[in-house]
Amino acid sequence: MLADKRILLIVGGGIAAYKSLELIRRLQDRGAQVVPVLTRAGAQFVTPLSLSALAGRKVFTDLFDLTDEAEMGHIELSRSADLVVVAPATADLMAKMAGGHADDLASTLLMATDKPVLIAPAMNVRMWEHPATRRNLETLRGDGVRVVGPNEGGMACGEFGPGRMAEPGEIAEAIARGFVGGPLAGRRVLVTSGPTHEPIDPVRYIANRSSGAQGTALARALADLGAHVVFVTGPASVPPPEGVEVIRVETAREMEAAVRAALPVDAGIFAAAVADWRMAEAHTSKLKKTRDGLPVLAFAENPDILAGVAGMGEGRPGLVVGFAAETDDVVAHATAKRDRKGCDWIVANDVSPATGIMGGAENAVVLITDRGAEAWERMGKDEVARRLAARIAQELGA
Ligand code: CTP
Repeated sequence: MLADKRILLIVGGGIAAYKSLELIRRLQDRGAQVVPVLTRAGAQFVTPLSLSALAGRKVFTDLFDLTDEAEMGHIELSRSADLVVVAPATADLMAKMAGGHADDLASTLLMATDKPVLIAPAMNVRMWEHPATRRNLETLRGDGVRVVGPNEGGMACGEFGPGRMAEPGEIAEAIARGFVGGPLAGRRVLVTSGPTHEPIDPVRYIANRSSGAQGTALARALADLGAHVVFVTGPASVPPPEGVEVIRVETAREMEAAVRAALPVDAGIFAAAVADWRMAEAHTSKLKKTRDGLPVLAFAENPDILAGVAGMGEGRPGLVVGFAAETDDVVAHATAKRDRKGCDWIVANDVSPATGIMGGAENAVVLITDRGAEAWERMGKDEVARRLAARIAQELGA
């Protein structure tokens, strides 16, 4: 798949650098030639010798001298590649890239290249969540840099959260996908997913049984077809997919704001189980059994995010898809819902407890479009996702 592709692999300084050795193998297995570049910090974690032994060629480091420069200057080095990959991309390397610095070999190559750039960030969770890294990430995305990961999990520093470098297999997959493209390459798609939590007081909330499984599978399937997916998720019980832009929210109102901020998109898929109501007034301190007696909860209606986007004039996505969770008269209720919400398609399913669909691995959906209702046989949520993604690609003329 990557036959004859030349990939310049910049290995930054982080504990994840050891995974880049495996990445070289994975890329070679797919037929690519890997030209390794090791930063000064990277050399604290892996040796030039292991990189060059695996890559089967010279590794370029900051220490390369004038003779090397005569052999292959940094401009030529970065331009002779088909793709530049930075793995691990540390917070520092990302900051340098975003700021346009060129004070060592890696940053100079990144400034000099006219080829696509893909980064696999890896850092401590607090560094990943730091506003400076957030800003840099935005800048890099705006510059067209593709980002894979990071994943969530336990970290070498003992903390837990997003910051682990994506696995070599995932990075290789993203690279291959980038070269091959896909029917949705260049398209931006929004997917909402998971439940929302509506606070009652600081420790209690109202939620629902959505696991986020169907929305997650759909986001993954759309990304697999090459789309840039903005994945707005409530507190789901399944982790978000790789290779999508993840925006985490808790309440319906936060979800609405995140959705608005993600526009414009080519298609909006609303798979979240949004709470219809929130507390009219969330208590700012914990309700006490002894002091407050039996609470009376007063509700207020949440904004209907789907209806809001479907009803937009200018800036409305070309395709708006809603989901309908019903427990009886599925087709009739879902058809009415499609009209009421003004969306193009409704994916309806029967969530009565007997079906085991909500929170389960399978789904039996009815797709309702302006051409009527189409019942799909019961199948895995991943398969539903793949078929829906293919239909979406078809509808967008991709
Ligand atoms: N939805 C939304 N915002 C809301 C409620 C629902 O965006 N505040 C979206 C869901 O993501 C889904 C669709 O609307 O795509 C239908 O959700 P559902 O809960 O089935 O519909 P309701 O509006 O709650 O209708 P009803 O209570 O009559 O079933």
